[in-house]
Amino acid sequence: MNKSETAVSPEITARANTLLEQMSLAEKVGQLAQISGADFMPGPPAEEIIRQTGAGSLLWLNDTKQFNELQKIAIEESPSGIPILFALDVIHGYRTIFPVPLAMAASWDTAVPEQAQAIAAKEARAAGIHWTFGPMIDIARDARWGRIVEGAGEDPYLGSAMAVAQVRGFQGDDLADPEHMLACAKHFAGYGAADGGRDYDPVFLSEAQLRNVYLPPFQAAVDAGVATFMSAYMDLNNVPASGNRWLLRDVLREEWGFDGFIVSDAFAVGNLVIQGHAKDVRDASYRAIKAGLNMDMASSSYLQTLADLVEDGSLAVEEIDELVRPILTLKMQMGLFENPYVDETLLEKVIALPEHRAAARLAAQRSMVLLRNEDNLLPLAKDWQNVAVIGPVADSMEATEGSWMVFGHQPAAVTVLQGIRAKLPEATVTYAPGPAIRRDFPSPFEDFMPELKKPPQTPEESDAAFETAVTTAQAADLVIMVLGEEAHMAGEFASRGSLDLPGRQEELLKAVCALGKPVVLVLLNGRPLSINWASENVPAILEAWEPGTEGGNAVADILFGDVNPGGKLPVCFPRNGNHAPLYYARTLTHQPEGSPMYRSRYWDSLTTPLYPFGFGLSYTTFEISNLQLSAAKVKVGETIEVTAVVTNTGQVAGDEVVQLYTHQKWGSDSRPMRELKGFERVTLQPGESKTVTFQLGPDELRYWSTNANGWVQEAAAFDIWVGADSLATLHADFEVVD
Ligand code: GLC
Repeated sequence: MNKSETAVSPEITARANTLLEQMSLAEKVGQLAQISGADFMPGPPAEEIIRQTGAGSLLWLNDTKQFNELQKIAIEESPSGIPILFALDVIHGYRTIFPVPLAMAASWDTAVPEQAQAIAAKEARAAGIHWTFGPMIDIARDARWGRIVEGAGEDPYLGSAMAVAQVRGFQGDDLADPEHMLACAKHFAGYGAADGGRDYDPVFLSEAQLRNVYLPPFQAAVDAGVATFMSAYMDLNNVPASGNRWLLRDVLREEWGFDGFIVSDAFAVGNLVIQGHAKDVRDASYRAIKAGLNMDMASSSYLQTLADLVEDGSLAVEEIDELVRPILTLKMQMGLFENPYVDETLLEKVIALPEHRAAARLAAQRSMVLLRNEDNLLPLAKDWQNVAVIGPVADSMEATEGSWMVFGHQPAAVTVLQGIRAKLPEATVTYAPGPAIRRDFPSPFEDFMPELKKPPQTPEESDAAFETAVTTAQAADLVIMVLGEEAHMAGEFASRGSLDLPGRQEELLKAVCALGKPVVLVLLNGRPLSINWASENVPAILEAWEPGTEGGNAVADILFGDVNPGGKLPVCFPRNGNHAPLYYARTLTHQPEGSPMYRSRYWDSLTTPLYPFGFGLSYTTFEISNLQLSAAKVKVGETIEVTAVVTNTGQVAGDEVVQLYTHQKWGSDSRPMRELKGFERVTLQPGESKTVTFQLGPDELRYWSTNANGWVQEAAAFDIWVGADSLATLHADFEVVD
């Protein structure tokens, strides 16, 4: 699907206009309201609002039977009988949970998120959900920001590819397909650049940063035909995104031609008052409407004030019609008027499909990144008889399934402990969690995840747990440490100042390593972690992220050699939280980092990343060679073809991700020392070679120039590197001439 395919037909536009003519102002305002189905919300019950005016959409409900009951009220008892769009955060799975989006980006394989979101859509639609608040496509270069887990990492090229794949997965090829759902590109825009990585904090980005880094995935989503957008919470250059006309009208609609509709983030219209932007709720609604925000999520500001604003002449009814129309046309394109109800017998058939779990296992396998494997300790033989699995997340379903397990999602993951025990049925596999880990300040989401509301451990209990873990490790021949973060330590309202392993995990790791036994470290986490000590002292480290329902099986598949890991980091791992924001695509400066005189930007620590963007090891080895260009010189506007040969030089089959980076040596603006402009994941048998081909044309070589205050593609000399991560050394030059 792409934007032209989701374009609204004249027939549907005419049908929507006819309906608009029949609707009262109150009914039109009802369509601009997304009301809450959750019982934690004050105010009149949803059914009362629906009876009075109807509602554009309802969220935070996950109950198939109730969906049909509310839909019946909308159709039979509301004035205009317009069906409701039911919406929920189906971010990486509905009942079959896939790896978190950051993990799926680490697969560098767009088929992974596309298939995942297609299955998520199938299950969610069977439950009666029409619309997901995904994909989240915020670029994140500050690992302290908790929501880095929901996106595709630091790079706009990889992020755009993953955004398009997810839109395709959710929406399929036809909005009327009952096994697909409306997608929602969020959070528009720049949310990942919050000051200090502090969630919700203000964002200050130049137009060049927005245009070159933070906006491209959103434009890619529009070109892929995404049906809806969500405006972000935070102030963008002092103007809240949800009241930001430049973002919502000038860029999204005028420049990019987006013709779907925009929903605010939760309560974000009403929040304009709290943010000190709007004088009162009435002013907030006025500003949001003027900015082009169609739907008010849960704040009821529109419901309370829009009719008055029209009646007193502050707003014209045509301005309301313009924002209601795309909501009606999307409901018509989905066939919602013809098929408003869901078959209540469908869900149990759909969510039990074995192929869904198989897809989740494959996605988890392809997302994991091998960070270290000294002396090829991995893969482990399957004849180990006495294995200890140690760590606070080793048997945690929540940590395995990860963020967004709220609103009725039921964690059912295979934990790492369970996966290892399944892999070694004859062995003795012991387990000790070690000291508990917990946030210093609780997450508001713990109210939805009571299983996370554990009482604090006393120092004595912590010490006892520590000793038990060390004793358990002592009694084993092999130790698998499973460390990282609990589900609510990344995600919304889950920013942190440090990137260290929370709690006493590193202390426990050191104590276990001191026993002198073979130790493997598995990380379950939603963000990069500064595992400096482990990176030098633990021989084997597997980054498993938050791998979803089949995560434990996928970890065991890799540890014991049934699968050769091929994932690569979609975000660099800083050595310390206070190095953030840290990212590879920086300009050179007058003293490039790493030169003999300037080894580090700080005098007290190395500021190069612990693990660079694009990095990941394999159980085999590869060579990338024979870099060829179709020309040494091309004109502005022409395309150059780049080829390279990748060979599996090892003993087992494996995947390599061949990456292409460019650097424009001079221009109107200083340009990043490297930028990803192509990648391909290839599977090779031992000794096998493959030629990979990339195209570099105007789309890849243009950029938004501060100096030129616009998009430019310039005559200049360029570096090219092709390799297996962002430090690639295989180099060539080419020139672009006028
Ligand atoms: C949340 C999040 C947003 C989510 C919305 C609805 O606060 O910011 O990502 O989709 O509310 O749950």
